[in-house]
Formats: sequence, C-alpha cells, structure tokens
Amino acid sequence: MNEQIVAAGELKWWQRGIIYQIYPRSFQDSNDDGVGDLRGITARLPYVASLGVEAVWLSPIFTSPMRDFGYDVADYCDIDPLFGTLGDFDALVTEAHRLGLKVMLDYVPNHTSSDHAWFRDAITGPDSDRRDWYVWRAPAPDGGPPNNWVSFFGGPAWTLDPTSGQYYLHQFLPSQPDLNWRNPAVRRAMGDVLRFWMDRGVDGFRVDVIWLLAEDDRFLDEPENPDWTPGSVEHARLQHVYTQDQPETHAYIRELRQVLDEYDDRMMVGEIYLPVEQLLPYAGTPAQPMVHLPFNFHLILLPWHAAGVRDFADRYDAACVAAGSWPNWVLGNHDQHRFKSRVGAAQYRVAQTLLLTLRGTPTVYYGDEIGLQNVPIPPERMVDPAGVQQPDVPAASRDPERTPMHWNTQPNAGFTAGHVEPWLPVDDAFASLNVEQQESDPASDLNYFRALTRLRRDHPALVGGAYVSEDSGAADVFAFRRTLDGEVVTVLLNFGSASQTLGDLAQGRTLLSSVGDQPVAGAALRPNEARIVLR
Ligand code: NOJ
Repeated sequence: MNEQIVAAGELKWWQRGIIYQIYPRSFQDSNDDGVGDLRGITARLPYVASLGVEAVWLSPIFTSPMRDFGYDVADYCDIDPLFGTLGDFDALVTEAHRLGLKVMLDYVPNHTSSDHAWFRDAITGPDSDRRDWYVWRAPAPDGGPPNNWVSFFGGPAWTLDPTSGQYYLHQFLPSQPDLNWRNPAVRRAMGDVLRFWMDRGVDGFRVDVIWLLAEDDRFLDEPENPDWTPGSVEHARLQHVYTQDQPETHAYIRELRQVLDEYDDRMMVGEIYLPVEQLLPYAGTPAQPMVHLPFNFHLILLPWHAAGVRDFADRYDAACVAAGSWPNWVLGNHDQHRFKSRVGAAQYRVAQTLLLTLRGTPTVYYGDEIGLQNVPIPPERMVDPAGVQQPDVPAASRDPERTPMHWNTQPNAGFTAGHVEPWLPVDDAFASLNVEQQESDPASDLNYFRALTRLRRDHPALVGGAYVSEDSGAADVFAFRRTLDGEVVTVLLNFGSASQTLGDLAQGRTLLSSVGDQPVAGAALRPNEARIVLR
C-alpha cells in the first residue's frame, strides 16, 4: 500500500490534476455562427483556470464533415474551419500554457471519415494503394453482409461498396470506415499524427474507442447477448467478443505509447468501457506501458447506492494498487446523460464531492461545475446520429448533454451573440443557472466546486493519499479516509434523505460541507450532505 501514498509534488500532472473536458461546439461561439470555436474557448480559458483544474481536453476539432460532430475526421492534421485555423489553435495552446493549463486533444484512431483522402483513395478499387488501410470483406454467400456484426448506432457494421462488390467495416456510421490497424502503414501514419500535435505543444490525448482498434481476423459471427432486452440499443444485442478488446489492440497501444514516450511528460487516456479485470491491463506494465489512464466509467454505469459505490471503489482502488496503476474517475462526458439528471438534484453535490475526493484523476465535463442538466430536445432539433438512427430508443440521443454552456443572462446564455439559432437549443433554465450569477453567490455550485479544488490543493492527502473506506453503520452513508504523512481527511457522503448520526467517524474539524455551514464536530450528517472532515 505504501507505494500508493505519494506527495503531490512527486506526482505527474495527469495524476495530481483534474482534466476538464470541453465540447468545442458548445463552449463559446466567437463568430456568431451558432457553433462554438477555438477563439471562443481561448477567451474562456481564464474561467477554466479559475476552476482549479490542470488540463483541458478538447473533443475533436479536426477537419470533418461533422456527421458524428467531429468524431469523423477527414484530416487529422488540420482544424475544421468551423472551429478556426491552426493559428487559432496555436494561440489557444499558448494561452493555456500561460495560465498553467495543459492541453489534451481527442485522437480518433479507430476510424476516419469517408471523406478522408485515405478512404477516397481506398474506395477507388482493390488496386488502390490505400485499399488495405480499411477492412474489406466479400459478401456472405447470400450476398448480404459478411457476418452479423452491428454498428454502435444500430444497423449492420458493414456497408456494400457496389463498385467492387465488397463490404467495408464501420463500427459507427457508414461514413466512419474502420481503419485496418493490422496494416503497419496505418500504424505509422497514425503515429505521425500524434507527433504532429505534440510538436505543436499538445500535452496529451484522449483516445477514442481505443479498445476497438483490432477485430478478430476470422470474422466470425458474434454470439447473442442473453441479457439483451428489446427496446434497448441494437448494439447490445450481441456479445462483442470479436470486435472488442483483442490481443492485437494491446500490441498497437504499446506502439502508440512508444511514440508518446519520444516526448517529455505527455500522456494518453483511453476510452474503454470494460469491467475492471479487462480495463486495468490497458495501463500495461512498467516494461511495456500502454495508456497512462484507462478511463474508468463505472461511476456512470453503477446504480447510485452507497453500498454499491463503496464496494466498487474498494475493488477498483485495490486492483489499481495491486497493478501499480493510477486510478481515475468520471461522472460525465459527451456520450452520457448529465450526472445531475442521473443522480437527482439532491445528490448532485454528493456526487461532485465523491468525484473530486476519491483517489485518482477526476475528469469533469464542461458545465457540470455549475450543475447543468439534460436539456429536452424537440424531435425536429435532434441532430445526434445515435438518436436519429434509433428513434425507438429515446435515451440513445446524446444531444441532451451537449447543449451550450450557460455564461450569463444575455440571449442564448452568452454562448452566441443571438443572431443565429445555436446548433442545439439552450436550456431555458439559463436565466437562473449561469456562470455569472454563480460567481457572485458564495453558496453556488460553482463556488462549491472551487472549494473542492482548493481543498485538493491545500490537503495533499486528498490527491496523493491512500484510500480506505470505513463502516459508517448507516446503509446510506459511504465514508472513506484519505491519509498522507499523518494527515487524515475523512469524506462522509449521505446518499439518503434522512439524517444520520455517525459518532466517531464525524469527529474532527469540518473543512467543507455541501449544505453550507460548518457543523460542529461529530454533528449528525444531514440529508444528502457531503462533508469533509480533518482529524
Ligand atoms: C466515442 C465518442 O466518444 C463518441 O462520441 C463517438 O460517437 C464514437 N466514439 C465514434 O467516434
């Protein structure tokens, strides 16, 4: 356990700091076209720095037809004009670094856009030099797709190229063909993409669907998932034993890591939805490192109950200690409904406190610091292909969590000047739920968030300290301690709506309470209260 107790100064930036995810389309529009852009983000970086976070991660900003809003890249080494220019990007990096913020980009290696020059060449025919940069198969004997693989957005994962009579693979939209990572030329080209951005000063990468890079080359049908229920997304109908988490993928990630290690102090965090046993191996070993952080999405996926969350935190922390890998935690991102809507408004600060006090790097989704919730999107405004393609699955659309940031009470919440309709509707709640109003309210969610990040700075136990959970004696209370160099910080989280007397556990000086005032030592934990106590 001792090796896990680390003074903050000995930690790398991606271990000690908080990653703040910006969805560029929705952060700040600077040119009045209704879509956020790089200049808008740069103008807002002082706000981001004021949150006490370490790094900004930008969802894709590269040249793209935007059929999946940038996760369909047509040129990995340029900026889409919608977002600005390479010059705007350089200015963003300079400003971020001046403010002490690291910059992370979204790297999308599994697939390109069908508009990418590589695919346009590949689809000219089997003789194309780039043909083998993508995954092609002959039809099944009946002329249909080569096997039963399905796309994440519903429908077959194969599309017929009528000219050659072959099908190509796409785990997402037909306009997002999968790259063939078995081809060394693809791996070299994609390594060069990382170098291109690191040469421009980029500090790290969030790697899109990294656990999908390779497919089993027998192309067998995937088995049915016995737990699938009709009405849920079609992709979950199969068990993805041949399209996910393949041994080759691990090898390709080791190669990517070598590219990162050509540079100083860079990092990558991999998007991976897998159980802990399959997740942690993605960090690799000291001799063969892989990603610095394999994203841990389990707080998103677990039911919101004290016992279940404690059990998971115990298991995950212990597994990280055993594997010698650094933990991380996520409550929200651009693919998941807003956590405040998920756990309920009463539990919002409990969840926020948990995220920022567990051992490991937290990732925060823009707007969660002021308590943005899912925004209902009228059907005619729905734009997310995951929703548009699966109209019978109401939760499939990711639009509700991608709406514009609320800055102030001006039209469109200050996100865009108000002359054009923003690309997604602004939540009507913005008049009373915005940054400007929360700045001036000491009891606001924004200032609660800042109080949490300040505590992380002032109490190194909350960053590098060991984690151990405690029996609280109350089914609804998850209690844990963070300890470092004799400092003991206790975190008490009431997942329920009744007050709870905790006795000795609550003794000590209250550093922060989500309910506002500073209760006396040992006072009962109030309904839905999060409290941080120094022994
Ligand atoms: C995962 C991304 O987070 C999601 O937004 C995107 O649609 C798919 N990958 C495809 O790139």
